[in-house]
Amino acid sequence: MNPTIGFALLLTVLQVARGQKVTSLTACLVDQSLRLDCRHENTTTSPIQYEFSLTREKKKHVLYGTMGVPEHSYRSRTNFTSKYNIKVLYLSSFTTKDEGTYTCELRLSGQPPITSSKNVSVLRDKLVKCEGISLLAQNTSGLLLLLLSLPLLQAMDFISL
Ligand SMILES: *[C@@H]1O[C@H](CO)[C@@H](O)[C@H](O)[C@H]1NC(C)=O
Ligand SMILES: *[C@@H]1O[C@H](CO)[C@@H](O)[C@H](O)[C@H]1NC(C)=O
Ligand SMILES: *[C@@H]1O[C@H](CO)[C@@H](O)[C@H](O)[C@H]1NC(C)=O
Ligand SMILES: *[C@@H]1O[C@H](CO)[C@@H](O)[C@H](O)[C@H]1NC(C)=O
Repeated sequence: MNPTIGFALLLTVLQVARGQKVTSLTACLVDQSLRLDCRHENTTTSPIQYEFSLTREKKKHVLYGTMGVPEHSYRSRTNFTSKYNIKVLYLSSFTTKDEGTYTCELRLSGQPPITSSKNVSVLRDKLVKCEGISLLAQNTSGLLLLLLSLPLLQAMDFISL
């Protein structure tokens, strides 16, 4: 195997491992609050930017985050918590006026910046009640790290051939 190809392969693997992908975005209702669970990979120590937004009638409204400026009317209605690989946003007093497409976006700075996002479409009547999901039970990073390191090891093997 040509070592240049091996090296290119390793670079590709590293780039994939460097990504900070949003793996899922779900919505549910607690009391009168909308809860958005944004799960993502946590494979880098680099600072990461994030944003929760709502697109309604083709207009985007920033709810919370470090990228855009949250709209004034939402500021007093949101609360945010973050754990190892999940970001949770609550939007209080949820009504049909808040229906639309919710987006969770992550951005890893770099040249060019790497972004990853997921959408969830939210309708008041279709919303399910939140189950008592433990945030800790969602921690799959151990497995994730294992999965990510497998191709890396394979790639290294490749080069030594
Ligand atoms: C955020 O809002 C939810 C729903 O109203 C509530 O259960 C939770 O305790 C709040 N968290 C904080 C940190 O205020
Ligand atoms: C990844 O986990 C570390 C340790 O819990 C945390 O400090 C960091 O903010 C997390 N990264 C993201 C993108 O949430
Ligand atoms: C999410 O929805 C927005 C607004 O409708 C759209 O512009 C964007 O392309 C969607 N992104 C994904 C990943 O589907
Ligand atoms: C998630 O798992 C990682 C690796 O096993 C561990 O370092 C981290 O403390 C865990 N985070 C939480 C919130 O349990």
